[in-house]
Amino acid sequence: MKGGGVIRAAGGGAGGAGLLRTRLRLPVVLLSCSLFFLAGFFGSLLFTQDPEEADMPVPRERLLDAAWPEMPYGESGEAAPSLIPYQILSWQPRALYFPQFATSEQCENIVKTAKERLKPSTLALRKGETAESTKGIRTSSGTFLSANEDPTETLAEIEKKIARATMLPRNHGEPFNVLRYNIGQRYASHYDAFDPAQYGPQKNQRVASFLLYLTDVEEGGETMFPYENSENMDIGYDYEKCIGLKVKPRKGDGLLFYSLMVNGTIDRTSLHGSCPVIKGEKWVATKWIRDNIV
Ligand SMILES: *[C@@H]1O[C@H](CO)[C@@H](O)[C@H](O)[C@H]1NC(C)=O
Repeated sequence: MKGGGVIRAAGGGAGGAGLLRTRLRLPVVLLSCSLFFLAGFFGSLLFTQDPEEADMPVPRERLLDAAWPEMPYGESGEAAPSLIPYQILSWQPRALYFPQFATSEQCENIVKTAKERLKPSTLALRKGETAESTKGIRTSSGTFLSANEDPTETLAEIEKKIARATMLPRNHGEPFNVLRYNIGQRYASHYDAFDPAQYGPQKNQRVASFLLYLTDVEEGGETMFPYENSENMDIGYDYEKCIGLKVKPRKGDGLLFYSLMVNGTIDRTSLHGSCPVIKGEKWVATKWIRDNIV
């Protein structure tokens, strides 16, 4: 570009015919330079970029990489930050919600694998209780499934993800308990941890529970925490009413809550149950996590 002379002429402020010519030329030259530059710039974009990709949003993982470059990591660590979003539902009990923890396909695989093995759910009995005396407390059907019994390997993937989200090692988890609740079926409020006063000393106590909802439920079927925030503890709650914090099942979403306080005693606010299904069918996979290797 022959820009040097033009700039000198304009900047020098010299008079006469030369100046007039320069004044006319300067905008023309600048304008045409700009046009050529812009044409070249966008032209080159067209050739270097797939036109379809140009309109795609940046994947979230890439944004995360850009915001938090990887740190040096140990043998058992991971190269990249991961994105497992969660919402704190409550501090009493400590309950976290994980939206879209599993894909639709993963949920369907688990239901399919479990369907063939369903049996009426049972209860851990307290001193003096019998199967007959506890009838009606838990009316769902279910089955225990360990990850290596699932030919689709979905349970192994979910188990690994639960371990990463909780940082509680995989081998502290019981096999999955996959449950189906039909219309009217429910689970009266209970604790997942075993109170030593009622069940005797515990060698391996349940610390936390992770529920993976495998289906949407049209109506009812919420997981309820009647004592959330220490409420309803003094009203003579009958363990069957659906009150307190209610979590509506959504296919693929996860719910994690802790049954123990940090010092290992049972968190009384972790009492929970399943409200009766009113419309639809509820499928859920539960992973109980213990304080010792299972
Ligand atoms: C354990 O922690 C809870 C909550 O912080 C507290 O109320 C309770 O007294 C503690 N129990 C023991 C045995 O330390």
